[in-house]
Parts: sequence; structure tokens; C-alpha cells
Amino acid sequence: MSISVVILAAGQGTRMKSTTPKVLHTISGKPMLFHAIDAAQQISDDITVVLYHQAERIQKQIDENYEGISFHMQDAQKFPGTGGAMKGVKTRHSRTLILNGDMPLITKASLEALTSGSADINMSVIKLNDPSGYGRVIIDEHGNVQEIVEQKDCNEAQLLTQSVNAGIYAVNTELLERYIPQLDNNNAQSEYYLTDIIKMAVEETRVVHPVFVEEEEFKGVNSKLDLAHAEEIMQTRIRNEWMKQGVIMRLPQTIYIDCRATFEGECILENGVSIQGNSHIIESHIKTYSVIEDAFIKNSSVGPIGRIRPHSKLTNTHVGNFVEVKKSTLNGVKAGHLAYIGDATVEEGTNMGAGVITCNYDGKNKFETKIGKNVFVGSDTQIVAPVTIEDDVIIAAGTTVNRDIKKGNLAISRTEMKSIKGFFYKFFGE
Ligand code: UD1
Ligand code: MG
Repeated sequence: MSISVVILAAGQGTRMKSTTPKVLHTISGKPMLFHAIDAAQQISDDITVVLYHQAERIQKQIDENYEGISFHMQDAQKFPGTGGAMKGVKTRHSRTLILNGDMPLITKASLEALTSGSADINMSVIKLNDPSGYGRVIIDEHGNVQEIVEQKDCNEAQLLTQSVNAGIYAVNTELLERYIPQLDNNNAQSEYYLTDIIKMAVEETRVVHPVFVEEEEFKGVNSKLDLAHAEEIMQTRIRNEWMKQGVIMRLPQTIYIDCRATFEGECILENGVSIQGNSHIIESHIKTYSVIEDAFIKNSSVGPIGRIRPHSKLTNTHVGNFVEVKKSTLNGVKAGHLAYIGDATVEEGTNMGAGVITCNYDGKNKFETKIGKNVFVGSDTQIVAPVTIEDDVIIAAGTTVNRDIKKGNLAISRTEMKSIKGFFYKFFGE
């Protein structure tokens, strides 16, 4: 781990048209910047994130999720631009890899390619049919980089160059420390360009090696359209990886899986399923259009159209259509149709009938429901929490449970039904 990483994340991200800082927009459930940090952590123990716009908000989120990340505040008023971002940054190791915070698709393999070899600088280059918007990379007859020219500074011949700068560099730290203070802003944008270090290195006859990389991985996310494209690529990667690990997916393109979700054994995901957050699913069948959020599901089936919300734990359980489970533990339970089970624990052998509702909220506070083993909860029962229902209980359909029920009892709350002879004809006529 003898390499330092600096992640540039101070830019405003105007094209994103959002009050949320660009690098905090999420891809597959995780902020873009976190994807970059995760990739960096695989190769480095010295990571600095450069911030300016909404710095406090971004730093807070990083601090809540990571340890040992350093921060550097860019003086963006005085020193705007990617070179300005590097002014005053201190790194510990003899090589420094500079990444952008808006490249969530970067992989460890590419970072290793960029940090291998003995050139003074390795820089990422993409070949593009349409290079517009990017800095052009001028490569000499020996295959070494001569210069990067920003589009706004290009002459006509340079504009035709299809090799473009992807914006990621692995640089000998000693060179970086000498060059950064020498950068100026004599260019079309009056910014301090990090790219000018290439020219400085070439003037000193240092070797600048182009590392050709895939556009898909290195394309920066600048707009909501880019965000959607990056999401598609990330989702394809996530799904392909889990299918390799043994997950069965019906119409995989219709399935969403958070990057933090995990699967074990043979799971089946039908079309339209959404697996969100830190869900953990073992040997289970999630049927069409079900949504799973931060839940644990083992040897169970959910859906079609089931919703399992955070902090739920389902084991050996069947949850059917239009059933919502929230913060509940269900072990060996059947809840086949149209139910809401919130803040509850339900034990083995219990059947929750159609339309059963736990009334867990009185408008001010949430309360818990405890249901024991082998309980038959009749259809359309309302269970007003807090309440405890012991083992081997029968609850008649339509009961409002507002007191604890002892083991082995029947609970029933009904007004007597009447059947009035011939009333229909009296009312509507013969
Ligand atoms: C930069 C490169 C260009 C390359 C392109 C690839 C320069 C001068 N140009 O251009 O050759 O083709 O990336 O995407 O470097 N940032 C800061 N502080 C700033 C400005 C930017 O931290 O003052 C950060 C941004 O948050 C972003 C990264 O640097 O993560 C790149 O900035 P961006 O404005 O997108 O660079 P480009 O002008 O597109
Ligand atoms: Mg720019």
C-alpha cells in the first residue's frame, strides 16, 4: 500500500441541477464519492478528499461512514480548477494517485493498471469517436504523452485528436510537490489546470505513460442523464456478479439490487423485484414486484407484490400479495394476503389471515405486538398494540384485539349478526 490517493470533489457540479452536492448523488444505493473511496481503499491507506462546495455536508457523510479519511479544503476563490484543488495537499507515500469523485464505476483492476510500471506519470486515456468536451492528449511517436490541451485551448488540428484525458493520474509525489506551486492560470478558463503538470514533466524529460482505459469506467457523471447511465452499468455489474454466485433472476434487466445487498444459497428473484439497502437474503424466493428494504430473509417466500421494510427478519415464512411487514420478526409464519405487520414478533405455526392489521401507532407513539406459536388470527382482525397473544390461540374473524390473550383461548369480539326475513323486498320492492 505504498501509494497515496487524492480524490477531487470540490467542483460545484452545476450541470447536475441539484441542491444535493454532485458527489452525494447515489448509484445503486451509495453516494458516487463512496464508490470512489471504496475503490481507493483497496489500494491505499492514505486517502485525501478535496472539498469546497458544500464541504461540511460532504465531510459529515464521509465521517459517518468511514474512518481515517483526510480532508483538504480547496481555496477555490483564489485557486480555481483541478490544479488549484491540489494546492496544499500533502500525501504520505512516494506515489500519488489522483481520482475524481464523480467516477463511481472505476474498478480496482483499472487502478492497479494505472499504478503499475515505472513511468514518472501514468495517466488515463480514452479513445473516443466524439472527443468533445475533454482535454486532448497529444502522444508522440514513442507512445509517450507530450501534452494535454483543454478543448477551449485547442487549435484546429488538436481538436481532431481522439485520445482524451480521462482525468486520473498516478504521479511521482516528489514531482507533484514541485510542479503544483508552479501552476499558473494563463488559459482560456483562467483556472489552474492540473493537466499542466504533464507539460512540466515532459520539459524535464520525464516519462509520461498513457494507460488506455474503458470509457464506460472513466466517464465522469455530470448530469442526471449520466447518473442514469452509470446506474444501468452498475446494476448490470451487480446482477451479473450475483447470478455468477448462484442467484436465479427472471428478466434481470427489470430487477434492482442495492450494492450493499447480499445473497446466500439459491435465491430466486422474479421480474420487477427491488432489493434495497443492506438486505441479506438466504435460500429465498422473492416474487414479482416485491420490494425488500434493509431486511433479513431466510428460507422464505415473499410476494408477488410484497413489501418487507427495514429491520424485518423473516425465517421459514411465507408472505403473500399485498402484505407489508415493518420492523418485525416472523419465524415460521404464514401471512398470505393483504396484511400489515409492524413492530411485531410472530412465532412458529402462526397464520395471519387476510386483512389482519397490527395497529402499532396511536398517533403519537409506536407499540409492540407479541404473537406466540400456532395462533390462528382470523381475517380482518385488528391487533391494537401493545398486546401479547400467547400460544395456541384462535382469534375469530373481525375481532378487535385490545387485551392480552391467554394460552389456548378463543378471542372473539362481534355484535350478534341478524338475518331479517324478506327485508330486501320491503326496501326495494318486489
Ligand atoms: C478535466 C481535465 C480534462 C479531462 C476531464 C475528464 C483539467 C484542467 N482538465 O476537465 O483534461 O478531459 O477532466 O473528465 O484538469 N474539481 C475540484 N476543484 C475545482 C475544479 C474541479 O476539486 O476547482 C474536481 C471536480 O469536483 C471533479 C474533477 O475535479 O471531480 C474534475 O473537474 P471537472 O470540472 O469535471 O474537469 P473538466 O473541466 O471536465
Ligand atoms: Mg470543468
